[in-house]
Amino acid sequence: MTKTVFSGMRPTGKLHLGHLVGALSNWIKLQDTHHCVYGIVDWHALMGEYEQSEGIRANIFEMAVDWIACGIDPERSIIFVQSDVPEHLELQMFLSCLTPLGWLERNPTYKEQLREITTRDLQTYAFLGYPVLQAADILLYKANAVPIGEDQLPHLELTREIARRFNSMYHVDLFQDCAAILTPTPRLLGFDGRKMSKSYQNAINLSDSPEEIVKKVKAMITDPQRIKLTDLGHPDICNVFGYYKVFSPMKEQDVFAWCTKAQKGCTECKKILADEIIEYLRPIREKRLKIEKDRAYIENVLKEGSARASAIAKKTMTDVRKAVFK
Ligand code: TRP
Ligand code: SF4
Repeated sequence: MTKTVFSGMRPTGKLHLGHLVGALSNWIKLQDTHHCVYGIVDWHALMGEYEQSEGIRANIFEMAVDWIACGIDPERSIIFVQSDVPEHLELQMFLSCLTPLGWLERNPTYKEQLREITTRDLQTYAFLGYPVLQAADILLYKANAVPIGEDQLPHLELTREIARRFNSMYHVDLFQDCAAILTPTPRLLGFDGRKMSKSYQNAINLSDSPEEIVKKVKAMITDPQRIKLTDLGHPDICNVFGYYKVFSPMKEQDVFAWCTKAQKGCTECKKILADEIIEYLRPIREKRLKIEKDRAYIENVLKEGSARASAIAKKTMTDVRKAVFK
């Protein structure tokens, strides 16, 4: 039987190269082998951004455009908006009732976010329950596999524990274990050398124009010991070289050679990289420009996606209600 994949992304801003080589490339491949359900999880976005919620609607649209432009195929996969399917909240309620507070308070991702995010107040009831809604997302579609980043592993572990507790408490076999599919691609750093993140504004976005890409690549930090053109470079400590490995692996050996033998300067090396990234993104940019003008098309994809998601969700909820209320 074909297995089901579920994953979600919070519509909190523009998608960048990290999302593409991290999550999306994986999601796209999984469409060949699995039934895929991909959710734009706006309630999860709201838990963090409830104080400035005004951008979420526009971000949902842009996210759908980005996904489709990159190759998420709405014919094969379900693309939908979480808040269009209220069953997510209903299942979250059932699961909340049986989730011990300690499981949530011990969650390392939760503790880290409370520590690190100081610009927003995340000491809320909903935010503590973030992983319960995530468990509901996954279990509603009875997903067997969940492509995620490493930081999400504690949430998946909680999902499995909640599923087991539900089954044993109500003497049913409704929810199975789900496995993580970890992304194998090396992590890309932002152009300032820090972790790529929208809050650092150091990412190349999928919607960036060629001019913006050139500008951002030009600003990339290179081997700090290479000051003069004649200095021999160390590609392994250079972020530019890391980008070549991902976006132009055919050129990897050439770059290594011209850098270590000082045959090309960093400015030229970066100019070539910018062209490579522009080429890499060209089909995505072209598709993006075409579909973003067609609002009705995108809205229709989301409408059909939520209808297909709802059909599955309703079935699961009938079984859940029967199991709990007998
Ligand atoms: N918490 C995930 C993240 O921040 C997003 C998410 C919500 C998710 N629901 C999910 C991911 C279900 C996988 C499955 O990346
Ligand atoms: Fe980095 Fe290229 Fe300069 Fe070498 S030549 S240090 S790889 S930018």
